[in-house]
Amino acid sequence: TTVEWEAESYDMGGHDTYMHKEITEQVESVDRVLRGRIDDRFATVRLGGLNMDAREARGVRRVKILGCGSAYHAGMIGAQLIEELARVPADAEPASEFRYRNPVVDPDTLYIAVSQSGETYDTLAAVQELKRKGARVLGVVNVVGSAIARETDGGVYVHAGPEVCVVSTKCFTNTAVAFALLALHLGRVRDLSVADGRRIIEGLRRLPGQIAEILGQEEAIAKLAAEYADATSMMFVGRVRGYPVAREAALKLKEVSYIHAEAYPASELKHGPLALIEPAVPTVAVLPEDELLEKNRATLEEIRARGGRILAVAHAEQEKADHTIVVPRNEVELDPILMSVPLQLLAYHTALVLGRDIDRPRNLAKSVTVE
Ligand code: AGP
Repeated sequence: TTVEWEAESYDMGGHDTYMHKEITEQVESVDRVLRGRIDDRFATVRLGGLNMDAREARGVRRVKILGCGSAYHAGMIGAQLIEELARVPADAEPASEFRYRNPVVDPDTLYIAVSQSGETYDTLAAVQELKRKGARVLGVVNVVGSAIARETDGGVYVHAGPEVCVVSTKCFTNTAVAFALLALHLGRVRDLSVADGRRIIEGLRRLPGQIAEILGQEEAIAKLAAEYADATSMMFVGRVRGYPVAREAALKLKEVSYIHAEAYPASELKHGPLALIEPAVPTVAVLPEDELLEKNRATLEEIRARGGRILAVAHAEQEKADHTIVVPRNEVELDPILMSVPLQLLAYHTALVLGRDIDRPRNLAKSVTVE
């Protein structure tokens, strides 16, 4: 069984779908996850629900993030942020895999369960197994008082508000922002400088306005969606910071448009998937303006040489791409958060062109509360 869809209890507010409503709500929802948590004086954040003092936070030797689907992808962004800002080794794994593989549970590792609903059975089962083995488990959860929120030792609520559409959008973004806050906190009890703390805080504060700028490009993104909706399959690529963005964007497209999509690290293309590239298989390439930009541009060239069409997401027009969605500049660490937003709109408009049942994609439920 699955949790019943309770859409009727929420107002659509003039939007044609909940997905559209929830994408546009991100300006306010990101503001909400930040509200009351920033500590300007010490260039850090206050996360009261963690139930961990500074000494305990410093004692964390490793972070393991567990979630399913979009929650897992937000966790991938979270792991990168924690490594970058706190220099603590961190990785994300699907909770559904973790619980089945008799994992080595280490007392110095901080485990983090990520879930919109807080009721996903695979994630809950992973939490219960970890607790049984004496691990410290935090939750990064949207639904207050949900099973995962109750069973964890503490955590960060993502405050995205009710998400009705089966396909996660605003909660994914808010979860990634919540991880930025947690990474900042873990960084500032270690070696992240006041100056870098301030830089990230200022970046976080710019996010809502920049999301509004991206939403302002909706008409242009709708045109691009119409242009690429004839694809038989789509390739999504990114390196390091761009990779979780590619993963999430491919999932969004599959869920709502039913177009097959693959996400690959751009660096892996030449090890196999390049064989798929042809005009009917366009590529969406995610190009943050970081130390890998030139490498990523070279990838565009390789794709182009095989006759592949390219839609780039970048901070400036890419001449090797057929089209570019230009995203405002922020701090590079926060690029994955911003770059995901236009690709939510791309998935939405592709599904609209193809006449799909956007809020209730076939075969899917909002929360999978069974094995
Ligand atoms: C998101 O678009 C999906 N429908 C799905 O992958 C979802 O993220 C996953 O099932 C996890 O749900 P949760 O966040 O409620 O645990």
